Amino acid sequence: MFDERSASSSTRALLDARKPGHTLPAALYTGEGAYKADCDIIFSRHWIAAGVACDVAEPGDVVAVDIGPASILILRDDDNELRAFHNVCSHRGSRLVPPGRSVVGKLVCPYHQWTYDLNGSLALAPHMGVDFDRDLHHLKPVALKDIGGILYVCLSQTPPSDIDELERVMEPRLAPYDLRNAKVAFEQDIIEEGNWKLTIENNRECYHCASNHPQLSLSFHAADFGYDPDGLTEAEKIEANDLLDAYARYGAHWDNEGLDYEAVEHTVGWPTNFRTQRLIIAGLGESQTPDTRAAVAIPLGDTDRPWLGDVHLWGINSWNHVMADHAVIFTAFPIAPDRTLVRTKWLVNRDAVEGEDYTLENLTSVWKQTNREDAHLVALAHKGALSPGYRPGPYSRFTERALDEFTTWYVERMTEAETPS
Ligand code: FES
Ligand SMILES: [Fe+2]
Repeated sequence: MFDERSASSSTRALLDARKPGHTLPAALYTGEGAYKADCDIIFSRHWIAAGVACDVAEPGDVVAVDIGPASILILRDDDNELRAFHNVCSHRGSRLVPPGRSVVGKLVCPYHQWTYDLNGSLALAPHMGVDFDRDLHHLKPVALKDIGGILYVCLSQTPPSDIDELERVMEPRLAPYDLRNAKVAFEQDIIEEGNWKLTIENNRECYHCASNHPQLSLSFHAADFGYDPDGLTEAEKIEANDLLDAYARYGAHWDNEGLDYEAVEHTVGWPTNFRTQRLIIAGLGESQTPDTRAAVAIPLGDTDRPWLGDVHLWGINSWNHVMADHAVIFTAFPIAPDRTLVRTKWLVNRDAVEGEDYTLENLTSVWKQTNREDAHLVALAHKGALSPGYRPGPYSRFTERALDEFTTWYVERMTEAETPS
């Protein structure tokens, strides 16, 4: 009989064993083989959210991002162009820059001082002889796309072309916020003790919000991501109808402004999966803060109306909330089968001054707390997948439709690729 947790089970057999509408076989979350296959296929052949353009605002700004075993450096060159390269020296492979942000004139390898221009060409290679051809040893480029100020990279030589669709949909939706010229007011890395797919699944539903996120729930309508119209109490029905009415009212405002707000979903069948929609913010409706009012006195871009809602964007390894006063950009990177880095960046208008126009406590407290709560839930789910008592469980067809789409997308992408056994 097929044992889904057996170390000898091939990733392909596990993918074939997936039951539609259910969570994945345990070893797809916990196994070393599945983890390696995820790094080789999902994180190496797809467009992966890697950061924000305003982190590399000036020539010489560099950010190094680890994506599975790969390290990628993203920089702005002397011609103001954004570029990405493997963070690997062409001599003997040393990492060129440490993780995180740095500012450089040129990229100088710490090992033997090979020196690269910011366009990736090798400028200096001491002691390699007069006949050494530096042109053959430039840095290895990585495909990079800046969509509305959010940066995506693809490690493949043949990146999926449907990134153009993400750009077509999101560039106009993000343009009013001018995220390219914002600033990162605060950044937080946390490690979730769970598989990256559990991190993403946890993010794709608000089924758990009311009981786990008391603070986020003040600004978030849990019903936004689905509810059972037949299973509601009378009070819940009134709330659900009120939300529909509110969308009709807000929709009229947004139409007048020419703002896109309808949901766009590219899930199963699209290599570059994403979902976006302009959401209403609950409470006083301005921002995801403890009192649901704007946290920042100077709005992003030209968004000086507090009722613009929340442009949410889900991607393969990311989720984002872009509001009039600030944006929260999340990226998730696999570190091990049972460890995932979740990086959160809070973006504000670059002219906003901390202590005068905003406080970090008010700006960051909702999502810092929500991240802690989510990390706890992801760890619980991963522990369950490690247990002999685990069996794939059914998703709610109302509140967890997006999870079924994500795991179906995952199984399809992995199955289509040449899956190692
Ligand atoms: S490994 Fe980079 S200069 Fe030698
Ligand atoms: Fe959550």
